[in-house]
Formats: sequence, structure tokens, C-alpha cells
Amino acid sequence: MTNSRLQSTVQLYNLHPPLDNFRREVLQGLMQSPKSISPKFLYDKRGAELFDAICELDEYYLTRTEISILQAHAPEIAAYLNQKVLLEFGSGSSQKVRILLDATPDLSTYVALDISKQHLQESCENLVAAYPKLNAIAVCADYTQPLELPNIPAIQQKNRVGFFPGSTIGNLEPEEAVQFLNSAADLLGSGGGLLIGVDLQKSAAILEPAYDDAQGISAAFALNLLTRINRELDADFDLNQFKYSATYNQSAGRIEMYIVSLIAQTLSLDGIEIQFQSGERLRTEYSYKYSIPQFQALAALAGFRAQQVWTDPENLFSLHYLQLS
Ligand code: AVJ
Repeated sequence: MTNSRLQSTVQLYNLHPPLDNFRREVLQGLMQSPKSISPKFLYDKRGAELFDAICELDEYYLTRTEISILQAHAPEIAAYLNQKVLLEFGSGSSQKVRILLDATPDLSTYVALDISKQHLQESCENLVAAYPKLNAIAVCADYTQPLELPNIPAIQQKNRVGFFPGSTIGNLEPEEAVQFLNSAADLLGSGGGLLIGVDLQKSAAILEPAYDDAQGISAAFALNLLTRINRELDADFDLNQFKYSATYNQSAGRIEMYIVSLIAQTLSLDGIEIQFQSGERLRTEYSYKYSIPQFQALAALAGFRAQQVWTDPENLFSLHYLQLS
């Protein structure tokens, strides 16, 4: 583990797995059939910027709707956070947590967990600049894997509440979501809570444009994965020979996102030949959508009790407060 000072008030712990994991997982994903690569690799610096741009799109209702729910119910939510350690999974640009911090002046400690080190570093610096008295700790880690928190007294105190906004849990298959919730439960400990944002099922007419917008930002976000592979793994993907596709699979309750090969082509990566048929798909993401009872049932499998749920007036998005016994 390497620790480095961001500035006097934020400490960064780097538990991030080395580049080898990226190489190994990308190779594995490209060699299997059907091809897929984990969405956690979409968030290099450029990817994180493109995702922030997605959150601003008219078509992408998720971010602004979740923010409106947080704002509308901030005092009620803050009552669950008083004097607790707040642990944010995938803190991104740490915008939403500001609503919680504004409403909870006596929060004990804020721990930001994120896989993107650069993004984590920048956003924590900005957060501490805006909340100078905040006890903030940044942990660069792959929170999709079971992990142990650094041994800091401020975190080791028991009263922890997780914050997992944005419906990021939708990236996981339901069985993986239960696994994630199980390791979150371990991390939070008995009596812990989890505030989690979950996108709701709705018509393809709303969902598909949210994941394939008119400006092509969603497409650029997915295709940036190939740019990253070219740069970091010295591959030679020609981005003009691929397109992006996003469709709602109604029966599975998920948006499916792919990079589609426009031609039959062979690429070489680490001396291994990767073949694409014309029209062959490389899956970059699933984004699962749940009903409220469906999600509560899933959370119950990991031992979380549904304590409270908030939605917006149009029932686009849900915010759950779950409780461990
Ligand atoms: C970050 C997983 C919540 O599924 O809505 C948005 C990712 N991908 N547009 C989502 C995403 C393309 C996003 N999550």
C-alpha cells in the first residue's frame, strides 16, 4: 500500500490493482465468446470526463432526478447520517455527497472509494476546499472486489453508512449485485446502513435515448474504451471500424451496451490475434433497471432491511435507505 498526501486534510490510500489486471482482464474478455469487458475500465480520465458529460444530457434523466430526490428529502436522509462515517462507493466527482454534507453538519468522517485515481484525487481536493472542516479520506480501490479498509481510527469506529448513488449497482448482474451487497454489508458492519440509488423500470422510449443520445456522447464514452486499450496496451483498434449500440432488453430488465464491429477484422494484442466477425459485439455494459419490490428483495438476500424509499414525482428513479441488523 502506498500513501501520499493530497494536501494537509485529505489522505489518499492506493489499494488499486496494478495495470496487469487491466491487460489480463481485457485479453480474457476479448478472447471469450461472446466478447465482453468490465465497465469499470470505462473510467480513465477521459472516460470519467465523458461520463460527467453524459450526466448533463437532456436524455440522461438519472443524475438530475436522483439529485432532485436527495434535495427534496435531505433533512430526512441526514437524520440517518448524524455522527456516522459515510463511505461513498464510486465517488466520481463527489457532487451528490455535497447535498448530504450540507444537510449533515455533524458527520464524523467521509471516505471516498473510487477506482479512478486521478478523478478521486481531483474531486477530493475540490471537496475539501469546499468543506475545510471535513475529515475526508480517499481510498483508490476496486470496490467491486471484497476489500479491507485502511487501518485508520476514524474509519474503524463502527457507525458506518454506505452511499452508492447513480444506480451504479445496475452495472452488475443481479447475482453479482447480491455479492456486492454482501461485501458492502461486511464492510459496513452490523447496525450499518446503505443509502443507494436505483434506476426504475420504464419504457424503452425513455431508456434507449438515455443510453444513446443525439449528440453521441454515450457512444464516445463506450468507444473511448478502445482508445484506452490502444494507448495503455499498445493495441491498434481503428475506431472507424466500430460503432456503438444500446438497446433495452425488456424481459431481462436491462439496457445492453455494445461496441459492434462494422467489418470482419483481426487485431493483435500481446501477440495474440483477436478476430471480430462483421457485426460481432463486444459488451461494455449492462444497466439493470428494477422495480422497488424487486430491488428490496435483492437487498434482503444480503441481509439488508428496507427502511425507507424515496422517488421523484414521475417515478423515474428510487433512493433506498437499507439497514443491517
Ligand atoms: C454509472 C452505471 C449508473 O448505467 O446509467 C451511462 C453508466 N453508461 N451511460 C448507467 C452509463 C452509459 C451508468 N452507471
